[in-house]
Amino acid sequence: MLQIGDEVVYFSALFLLVVLGTRSATGASLLTAFLYVFMVMFRFPSVPVEQAGRVLRPRAPSGGVSVVAHRGGSHDAPENTLAAIREASRNGATGVELDLGFTADGVPVLMHDETVDRTTNGTGPISKLQLVQLKRLDAAARHRLKDKFSEEKVPTLQEAVEECLRHQLTIFFDVKDQPDKAASVLHEMYKQFPVLYNSSIVSSFEPKVIYKMRQTDPNVVTALIHRPWRLSRFGDGTPRSLSTSGQLWLGVLDVLLDWAHHHILWKLCGVSAIFVQKDFISLDYVQYWAERGVEVVGWTVNTAAEKDYYQNMLKIGYITDSLLEDCEPHY
Ligand SMILES: *[C@@H]1O[C@H](CO)[C@@H](O)[C@H](O)[C@H]1NC(C)=O
Ligand SMILES: *[C@@H]1O[C@H](CO)[C@@H](O)[C@H](O)[C@H]1NC(C)=O
Repeated sequence: MLQIGDEVVYFSALFLLVVLGTRSATGASLLTAFLYVFMVMFRFPSVPVEQAGRVLRPRAPSGGVSVVAHRGGSHDAPENTLAAIREASRNGATGVELDLGFTADGVPVLMHDETVDRTTNGTGPISKLQLVQLKRLDAAARHRLKDKFSEEKVPTLQEAVEECLRHQLTIFFDVKDQPDKAASVLHEMYKQFPVLYNSSIVSSFEPKVIYKMRQTDPNVVTALIHRPWRLSRFGDGTPRSLSTSGQLWLGVLDVLLDWAHHHILWKLCGVSAIFVQKDFISLDYVQYWAERGVEVVGWTVNTAAEKDYYQNMLKIGYITDSLLEDCEPHY
């Protein structure tokens, strides 16, 4: 699991590049040594493999990969609600993926977007709403099954965690930003419910969120979320930038970011898993990470054929919008 091979290659390559660039062996040695010491000093070791296994493969050893309801299962019930958590449990999910947001008065709640418009009957940024105002909204208002799920409220993080624990569901916390606040409230949750160390994982697209989480509490299982070409393209593949040069520049950043994910960031953060957009996962890809002691989880896997492939061929966990039927992908 120690990637001695990788490290020798990277640091030798770096050394050679700097020597060629500066013509100074001393300078190159110093820089390489500095970077090596930096990595050794500032990286977080990952949590024990057995602990990560309890979170990522809760059905082991009887077999069966983990099946995680995206936003609580946003096709089957209003996303990020207690009803969705109960529905996911009833339909056989092993876990739920939940999004963390903060109200104007700083209370952690479940909300994917920055505004409440898409999912509730309210309007405006969540950061401008007090908890009491948020609690007046109907969290099922925009859902296709709103008649079945009336009276749903936006739950606080605390309410959601308690509901998951009642149903023995694994929790995949998805944190978008606000690393300091998120790490601090999640750390409080772990202190209050230590069983979460064995049954939840904190994930983010942002390495700084994961780094901060591990700095605050190194015993938390963590994952980086990755979608190749995320900076230059939307989830459905359309370009983000209107100008060619803008698109080119974002593409270059995407290549660098992809490289960093696969070679530096995972190690610096000491993650136990990487959640990757489903179209970029193959057996070889899973193997690449397995050699590094990192689990791959695919998202969002929404058809029966794909689920079968994950369960029986790739043998890795996946995040899905529906436990019941095929549905459109959500990004
Ligand atoms: C949203 O729905 C709830 C529940 O039906 C209702 O009490 C509230 O007044 C509605 N809010 C708005 C802004 O329409
Ligand atoms: C996690 O699970 C292991 C193995 O069952 C157990 O020894 C440990 O006490 C658990 N940790 C917490 C915090 O519950």
